[in-house]
Amino acid sequence: MMFGATPQIEEWPCGGHYPFMQEIISRWSETAPYWEKHRAIIREMFAPVTQALIEAAQITSRSSVLDVATGPGEPALTIAEFVGTEGKVLGIDAVPGMVEAARREAQRRELHSATFAVAHADLLPAEASSFDAVVSRFGVMFFPTPVRSLREMLRVLKPGGKIALAVWHFAEKNPFHYTLSRVVERYVDSQSPAADASDAFRFAEPGKLRAVLSEAGAAAVSERLLQFSIRASVSVEEFWTLRSEMSENLRTKLTKVPRERRGELTREAIEALRAYSGDGGMSLPAEVLIVSGSRPS
Ligand SMILES: C[S@@+](CC[C@H](N)C(=O)[O-])C[C@H]1O[C@@H](n2cnc3c(N)ncnc32)[C@H](O)[C@@H]1O
Repeated sequence: MMFGATPQIEEWPCGGHYPFMQEIISRWSETAPYWEKHRAIIREMFAPVTQALIEAAQITSRSSVLDVATGPGEPALTIAEFVGTEGKVLGIDAVPGMVEAARREAQRRELHSATFAVAHADLLPAEASSFDAVVSRFGVMFFPTPVRSLREMLRVLKPGGKIALAVWHFAEKNPFHYTLSRVVERYVDSQSPAADASDAFRFAEPGKLRAVLSEAGAAAVSERLLQFSIRASVSVEEFWTLRSEMSENLRTKLTKVPRERRGELTREAIEALRAYSGDGGMSLPAEVLIVSGSRPS
């Protein structure tokens, strides 16, 4: 399979969105070391989402798969195990630190069918009709121009190939988010993001991403509400560390809390999280939308 050369950042066709993209890159670059540090737990927590994407994109052994906004390599690495040595997986991310982390893990686990490249979702380093399936887990909500990115993802799909995207349902349905944000909001003023801002909940409303995928030209577009449990085999204190490090939003807010109040906030946050901790670790009910479609034949 030919993937072609990785475009340079200066070549990315963001137009007016270029400064916005630079901001996204710098935000996610700071986050990359934490996602690498917590990779095993993140993988465990979102395994049901990966499974739902594999099903929605109809991935089988031998499939060639593109994972867009792979972060430190998920779901690309899980899919590489699934497709085996006869399949192929390319994971791309705009942030070099994420891609380096993904490569390290692929090497460590000897997953030779997985390769990774630094690339923007608007300009994928692959020829048209290269892949049987394209997936993206918690990525599309951050793209500056989602329709353009989805068109590009459809371009590299083979005719009839499947695309499957995972985005968060409403924050209020996800204690993974609201348990801590409700505590932190008592300490720091926070404003709701603008309607179409690059944010985890940009496509939380059912139907919104489905409409964008149809606009991009996908056929047979559908949406499924995935209800599952986020499980993490860690103590409540470890879970607090993970959450406060992996979320850029939370990290930024915590820096605004006066030093003398941070201990109190931490105690409150851990107390709030305790409702979801049990013998096997943490377990939180969660809701994600899986939006899928295909490239017209
Ligand atoms: C929430 S993380 C998801 C990472 C991974 N897919 C996962 O589920 O563990 C979002 C990722 O999207 C990447 N990203 C954001 N905008 C992007 C774009 N326009 N093109 C490529 N990657 C992008 C970020 O660098 C970050 O790694």
